Amino acid sequence: MSGIPASQMTYNELTALVGWYAEMGVDLAVDGVAHDRFAEDAPKPPPAPAVLPERRTAPVTRPMTEAVLATPEAAIQSARELAAQAATLEELRAALERFDGCALKRNAQKTVFADGNPQARLMLVGEAPGADEDRQGLPFVGRAGQLLDRMLAAISMDRSHVYIANAVPWRPPGNRTPTPQETAICLPFIRRQIELCNPSILVCLGGASMMTLLGVKEGIMRMRGRWFDYPLGEGGQKIRAMATLHPAYLLRSPPQKRLAWRDLQEIAKALRESDR
Ligand code: URA
Repeated sequence: MSGIPASQMTYNELTALVGWYAEMGVDLAVDGVAHDRFAEDAPKPPPAPAVLPERRTAPVTRPMTEAVLATPEAAIQSARELAAQAATLEELRAALERFDGCALKRNAQKTVFADGNPQARLMLVGEAPGADEDRQGLPFVGRAGQLLDRMLAAISMDRSHVYIANAVPWRPPGNRTPTPQETAICLPFIRRQIELCNPSILVCLGGASMMTLLGVKEGIMRMRGRWFDYPLGEGGQKIRAMATLHPAYLLRSPPQKRLAWRDLQEIAKALRESDR
């Protein structure tokens, strides 16, 4: 990007360049070599007889199963079949580790499956892992996760009382929102995860999780704190579900914590009632 090849830069120039990339939000290498996209878009001369140069740089990304990636429909179908075959949460985790139908997996370091207690009566589902979660392979371990822990503590709970997962188990590059297609491909897995955990109450953390799991298209500010029925699998059994504000949003908008506090009180009350 600076015009000087990295191999000719000094240590200080390289450090400054990488620091600048990080500040601009570029925190991920998607290939082992740089591409000049302007040159790629320029009109191409007729192809010369192909003599491929020997590849010297290993790609950073992992190869994906071409057949599954061929169409999103094929990926969704494959996700449905794999998820349905999983009889336990551990089998579902293994199925996700094998699944190559979501392109997000290529750039992710880890599959972020779950944290907490699989026997818990309360299940929380976020949107997708961030950088800290991707490094550690656990959901909600960054700043938003620390706030989530404090929110749980406010209703006398910790991670041993809840089961936590994400609608999408791979980090989108630069923490962008997962695309509708990525979300649709991952949906059969999170649905099955909820079914296998079989909680009494499901809480969607943030608008994206609410839209994915509850199909609610109105804004989170209007729909948070309301009870919905969430259908658990094909059997017709329904559990209570609520959406509340995402802890990452609360970090940016602390005055809204009072709304999340109200929702937490409601959730704690519903848990007490379902005890009886
Ligand atoms: N935000 C999410 O939605 N999930 C995480 O695991 C972390 C941050």
